[in-house]
Amino acid sequence: MAPNVVSPTPPWWQTAVVYQIYPRSFCDTSGNGIGDIEGIRSRLDHLEWLGVDALWMSPVFTSPMADHGYDVADYCDIDPLFGDLAAMDTLLADVHDRGMRVILDWVPNHTSDQHRWFMESRSSNDNPRRDWYYWREGTSDKPPNNWQAVFPAGPAWTFDEASGEWYLHLFTPDQPDLNWNNPDVRAAMADTLRFWLDRGVDGFRMDVVHMIGKDPTLPDLLSGPGSPLLEYDEPSTHQHLREIRRVLDAYDGDRCSVGEVYLLEPDVVATYYGNDDELHMSFNFMSVWTGWDADAWRRVVKGAQDAFDPVGGWPTWVLSNHDLPRHRQRFGGDAAIARAAVLLLLCLRGTPFMYAGEELGLVDAEVAPDQIQDPSGSRDGCRAPIPWEPGHGHGWPAAKNWLPFPPEAALRNAQTQRVDPASIAWLYKDVLAERRGSSALQRGSQELLEGLCDGILAWRRSYEDDERIIVINMTNEDVEIDLAEPTMIRMSSVASHQNGNEDHAFDGGIPANSGMILVPRR
Ligand code: NOJ
Repeated sequence: MAPNVVSPTPPWWQTAVVYQIYPRSFCDTSGNGIGDIEGIRSRLDHLEWLGVDALWMSPVFTSPMADHGYDVADYCDIDPLFGDLAAMDTLLADVHDRGMRVILDWVPNHTSDQHRWFMESRSSNDNPRRDWYYWREGTSDKPPNNWQAVFPAGPAWTFDEASGEWYLHLFTPDQPDLNWNNPDVRAAMADTLRFWLDRGVDGFRMDVVHMIGKDPTLPDLLSGPGSPLLEYDEPSTHQHLREIRRVLDAYDGDRCSVGEVYLLEPDVVATYYGNDDELHMSFNFMSVWTGWDADAWRRVVKGAQDAFDPVGGWPTWVLSNHDLPRHRQRFGGDAAIARAAVLLLLCLRGTPFMYAGEELGLVDAEVAPDQIQDPSGSRDGCRAPIPWEPGHGHGWPAAKNWLPFPPEAALRNAQTQRVDPASIAWLYKDVLAERRGSSALQRGSQELLEGLCDGILAWRRSYEDDERIIVINMTNEDVEIDLAEPTMIRMSSVASHQNGNEDHAFDGGIPANSGMILVPRR
């Protein structure tokens, strides 16, 4: 495909906005203080009200929950904490009835140590499944290579006294890495995809998928002891991704993949799209490492354009997820910035992924050291329960939930915000509606506008005769710019469309920390 152009009939995931749900934290209907599948179903009206197109659910599969579901013990069943297969089928049907889609979180790099495959593999050195994981000989005082786990601190290897060998785990010892060099592993994992594709899911978010291919000699990192996560780029992964793509392509309905490729070079991330035969999309995490700084954002946007456009790779945008402090917090907590960031996330060329609760302007909960739930110790704040109502319990039935609520839940909750057209939730809703009504915003080309004024990020989106210019002032000062063409203000983060503003002429003034969507005056 030619650079910066999309097909006239794009697949659904190119025009969609995806809403990430961390199921433990979304909505509890059982009363145990932990969210569940029925809770998600009970809140679909909120997603429909907002106007998102798809929901991505972090893992709900059978799991001992050592990493809250990213340690899967059975890919083809639902953990009783969240519900059961029937509840999942009902959710899928209800989401589809509302014209939305479901993306599940598939965890291919590792299983739980309680997965039947690993328990068999561990049971003896000559078990037929021994080679489904990475076992290496050695003495108990010297791990086989210098790889470190992402968390907890320490080697990515655990010594198994019974068999006198080490097994590899890029994350906790409860999460042994699958050996994708073994064709039986590849076949079994393909079957887990088919299980859910047959049930009608629309796609998969693929956890640390760039790590599935490994050089079987597992050489030391040349850079010294550390995690391979941010630098490992092994050719066999691309071969595995082509096989995975063929599994998806065998189904109708544009089933999609979005990879968590945690490499911070967009050029390298773009190679994971292959020749349109690997991932459909990949996260480009440069955005989450970028502060509220127009020059830095210009580099990130340009970096994505330069990397993805030439290979026809469809970009993605993300500001928050379940692994990071929420972006409102990262950007300093300012309400105006949180509002301007709505335009940043939703108006760049590519598929935006928003994280549940960002539409409420949430910051992270404060979690006391003795309340920490996360094995990495640092991610609980962004996983706080979503406040649904202003009053006691915020719509959560239990006296105590698995984590405390985020600050100001009496204001930053769905019920309060949905009746207040001046709220950030309404701004999300309005910008989502504007995006849905504009081919330029959904799938148009993108041109960065340079040299307008320090601290301003501006870009033009065009599709046939539909055009939008987005300007964001990332400074604490009101500024004036000269666009050299007459435009009208369609929407402003200061006061949204629904607040009564008709389009009116843009006079060049942009208030501090605000954004605008402009349309040409014809
Ligand atoms: C990335 C996921 O986003 C994170 O939550 C998880 O802990 C690791 N992968 C391990 O699966």
